[in-house]
Amino acid sequence: MIYQSDSLSVTRLDGDIAELNFDLKGESVNKFNQATVNDLTAALDALDAESGIKGLLVTSGKPVFIVGADITEFTSLFGAGVEEIKPFTGTNNKNFNRLAALPYPSAVAINGYAMGGGLEICLACDFRVMSTAAKVGLPETKLGILPGWGGTVRLPRIIGVDEAVMWMATGAEKKAEDALKAGAVDAVAGPEALRDVTLATLQQAIDGKLDYESRRARKHGPLPLNDTEAMMSFFTIKAMVGQQAGKNYPAPIKVVDVIEQARGMSLEDALDVEAQGFAELATTDVAAALVGIFLSDQFLGKKAKDWEKKASKPVQSAAVLGAGIMGGGIAYQSALKGVPIKMKDIAQEGLDLGLSEANKLLAKRVARGRMTPDKMGDILNSIDPMLGYDRFDEVDIVVEAVVENPKVKHAVLAETEGVIAEDAILASNTSTISITYLAEALKRPENFCGMHFFNPVHAMPLVEVIRGEKSSDEAVARTVAYANRMGKKAVVVKDCPGFLVNRVLFPYFGGFNMLVRDGADFQAIDKVMERWGWPMGPAYLMDVVGIDTGVHAAGVMAEGFPDRMQPDFKSATEVMFELDRYGQKNGKGFYEYVPDKRGKPTKTVNEEVYNMIADVVGDRAEFEREDIIARMMLPMAIELARCLEEGIVETAAEADLALVYGVGFPPFRGGIFRWMDTVGLAHIKEASDKFAHLGKAYELTDRMNEMLANGETYY
Ligand SMILES: NC(=O)c1ccc[n+]([C@@H]2O[C@H](COP(=O)([O-])OP(=O)(O)OC[C@H]3O[C@@H](n4cnc5c(N)ncnc54)[C@H](O)[C@@H]3O)[C@@H](O)[C@H]2O)c1
Repeated sequence: MIYQSDSLSVTRLDGDIAELNFDLKGESVNKFNQATVNDLTAALDALDAESGIKGLLVTSGKPVFIVGADITEFTSLFGAGVEEIKPFTGTNNKNFNRLAALPYPSAVAINGYAMGGGLEICLACDFRVMSTAAKVGLPETKLGILPGWGGTVRLPRIIGVDEAVMWMATGAEKKAEDALKAGAVDAVAGPEALRDVTLATLQQAIDGKLDYESRRARKHGPLPLNDTEAMMSFFTIKAMVGQQAGKNYPAPIKVVDVIEQARGMSLEDALDVEAQGFAELATTDVAAALVGIFLSDQFLGKKAKDWEKKASKPVQSAAVLGAGIMGGGIAYQSALKGVPIKMKDIAQEGLDLGLSEANKLLAKRVARGRMTPDKMGDILNSIDPMLGYDRFDEVDIVVEAVVENPKVKHAVLAETEGVIAEDAILASNTSTISITYLAEALKRPENFCGMHFFNPVHAMPLVEVIRGEKSSDEAVARTVAYANRMGKKAVVVKDCPGFLVNRVLFPYFGGFNMLVRDGADFQAIDKVMERWGWPMGPAYLMDVVGIDTGVHAAGVMAEGFPDRMQPDFKSATEVMFELDRYGQKNGKGFYEYVPDKRGKPTKTVNEEVYNMIADVVGDRAEFEREDIIARMMLPMAIELARCLEEGIVETAAEADLALVYGVGFPPFRGGIFRWMDTVGLAHIKEASDKFAHLGKAYELTDRMNEMLANGETYY
């Protein structure tokens, strides 16, 4: 034994080869936390002191290689300034530089996930052999930062600038075959052969059959581009990356800047440029927001796993009632993720439609080479369409997704309860009807809860699991377990009109209706909110949700919360509804939609719409951008605060993620609570006072005022 610590060890193998093995005690994965970084320094000291070593093998003792830096240690950095942050990357850069300059060759066996710092240490090694079971990547830009341990320096020198920028700008995970093709690794081996192949490679280098010195020179010298080539190349790359990332996500462009700036530099100078870029990004609100989202997502995942453990049995088979837009989507997603599903409707056309939707989605996967035709056949066969309740007593869970009508739902739920097993769980996908109320039709209300998917089911990650007054832990646990199996993000919420997401979305639409009433141009509002980060503005979103659906849901919300959601005017949205303009579904709403060549609806403007709504809107007025944002966002933010205060949702983190995953709230803002923390409650209060005349939806809650007085924040 040359060195041993709680995170890694160095041993001497036959043939004077040293093995550096990462194996973090008490953890399921290896990561570069501060302790591991310090241990690596000590291990390198020990290696320096050991005589006669001819080569270094780098391995992992876990199923993953190294998943990256310990993100939880990052949060303390964000409050600091650029100069305080720079040393954060320094120690490990010294480690990796020492590793890269050992007086003998090194080879790494990448057995599993090697992400971020996990891949950067591999890049510092002379030879990389990757298991077919492994994945590699530099995902830092997804967190609003950039690789800070030499990734921006070494990767472009190994695989070329264009490819390296794509890896870093997208943060994508790469399979072994792609990594080999790009030249990021030297060989690929099956998991059993990995160690032997890596050792054999190392031995060849020791024997002088593979030249590791020239590799080092290339990796640590200037990029092989002359000035003209560099100018053209970086110009094109910047335009492309800028367009893909958008102006709200500065990290991908920074990656390109850093590579360009350091292209002619020595290793040390290039690492300095990288450290500066890293520190500048780490001080941005965007980085804090994206890291916050990452950590909240881990928290949410853990909660969902804990719920799943509470379920008395796993979900192995399911059924869905109603084969419409939602039922068809649920059947597809369940089958895709390996849970066979019965799909029941009362009409053959419904079943045909549900199946053809699933067929279309699967055919797309096959066409993109992401699925074999055989697999597609298997998945389709695991959807069992029917008009009756054939063998419904065999399923673990039934999701009801029939028309949004309380009477129909009561009848369907009661009928279904009669044909399923005593311990089977029933869940409703209703968007507006109280779960507690729906349960009144049931003999076993404890076995019932809400399971609210978002449209389109396959694309939207969120599922709200709604706890009615009588829902048991088992009902919630099994429903969450099913959401997990379907690859969805489950947030458990309490029953109330709109549940969580719609309850806060409709005040936002309320803000929109008032702005239009007061003379704002709906297109201008859309533009401002899209620039603010929303994937689509409120008018466009209302069209996509469906104006009929929206008007119906707004009515339910107004009944539930009349003090702040009952408008005292007729809205432009209602006018659209009366004119049978239901939005994207029938091709006309605030905008009009014509299918493009591929059948995708494209948005167009019909100036006539302004005449249609003229009677309910005031004189056209110009609004300041900041006022539009405040008038749109305040009602949503305040309602979300109410939900947290009332315990509809348990934590700010879950609430923030629910809006990111359910309605596409801009991730770079980290969520609504994160946004309020960033701008400050004092700013929110100022805006609330300014727009107090718009009604109670704009009034801060007592608790918010108290938080402001005490200087409290949500995170
Ligand atoms: N469309 C959305 O955006 C969306 C989003 C979330 C939740 N939801 C909710 O999902 C549910 C379904 O909505 P949808 O948009 O899929 O509706 P849809 O009209 O597309 O489909 C409803 C289907 O239910 C079938 N049906 C009616 N009565 C039935 C019965 N007794 N037994 C079996 N099937 C029956 C109909 O034939 C139809 O195929 C509603 O509760 C809705 O509020 C909809």
